[in-house]
Amino acid sequence: MSVTIELKGKNAIVFGIANDKSIAWHIAKRLNDAGCRIAAAYQERVEQLFMPLMKELNNPIYAKCDVVSDELLDSFFKKVKDEFGEVDFLIHSIAFAKREHLQGKFMNIDRRGYQVAHEVSAFSLAELTRRTVPIMKNGGSIIAMTYLGSERATPGYNVMGVAKAALESSVRYLAFDLGDRKIRINAISAGPIATLAASGISGFGEMLLNYVAKSPLKRNITADEVADCALFLCSDMSRAITGQVIFVDAGYNISGL
Ligand SMILES: NC(=O)c1ccc[n+]([C@@H]2O[C@H](COP(=O)([O-])OP(=O)(O)OC[C@H]3O[C@@H](n4cnc5c(N)ncnc54)[C@H](O)[C@@H]3O)[C@@H](O)[C@H]2O)c1
Repeated sequence: MSVTIELKGKNAIVFGIANDKSIAWHIAKRLNDAGCRIAAAYQERVEQLFMPLMKELNNPIYAKCDVVSDELLDSFFKKVKDEFGEVDFLIHSIAFAKREHLQGKFMNIDRRGYQVAHEVSAFSLAELTRRTVPIMKNGGSIIAMTYLGSERATPGYNVMGVAKAALESSVRYLAFDLGDRKIRINAISAGPIATLAASGISGFGEMLLNYVAKSPLKRNITADEVADCALFLCSDMSRAITGQVIFVDAGYNISGL
């Protein structure tokens, strides 16, 4: 049986494109290539690397946005509503913690650092979902990005692990909020990929080596492999899947090594 995933006539909101290494970029490109139009939100600080990428997409819309600014969120979602009317998918591929909180001891986190990490990396999923639902009129699929550090204490991952636990739990509660609207929501738990965000994690190089040594597939994964899973989760092929954390990690999470 050969199956081609077609998303012609569909629209996706994508948060998290910083550069061509971003997981969000690989997902946006994959959805675009399947026929879907993209509404991309970018942070001002990444504008120079973000803009040239938009030329590679088919008729995208894009605007500056930051999930800690109600004003920017209002204007981004107004633009999406005005230009798309309706959307089918929301990709949440953002996270932030101060670099000094991604090393050393977790207990040294300060109150503000904890709040910021949770606001940007976890609360924002509920915020973006609430703003998307009114324009997701015909059901849809929402995807968030997470990491195994949510359930295993991973040296250096620290507050981000705690925020990812909140994010994954949010996915389960949101699945119940959204099910009767035929909106599905899932998280993809990816193995380590060298991106801007990953460069902030101390010991990231060792993580990459660890996956080669201990995963069943004896290798690292690529952002394209995450994008393939995202394409599946946006398609009707995954129509009975919601509230899940799906691992795209060469099987590392099952290892007892
Ligand atoms: N790279 C990995 O190894 C890996 C593994 C598992 C999960 N993830 C997750 O994947 C997601 C994407 O990260 P990435 O690795 O592609 O890195 P990335 O640096 O390319 O993407 C992170 C994005 O978050 C955005 N962002 C940060 N703060 C924001 C804010 N206040 N408002 C709006 N956007 C904001 C940045 O602009 C950037 O586009 C994150 O949730 C990350 O935790 C990454």
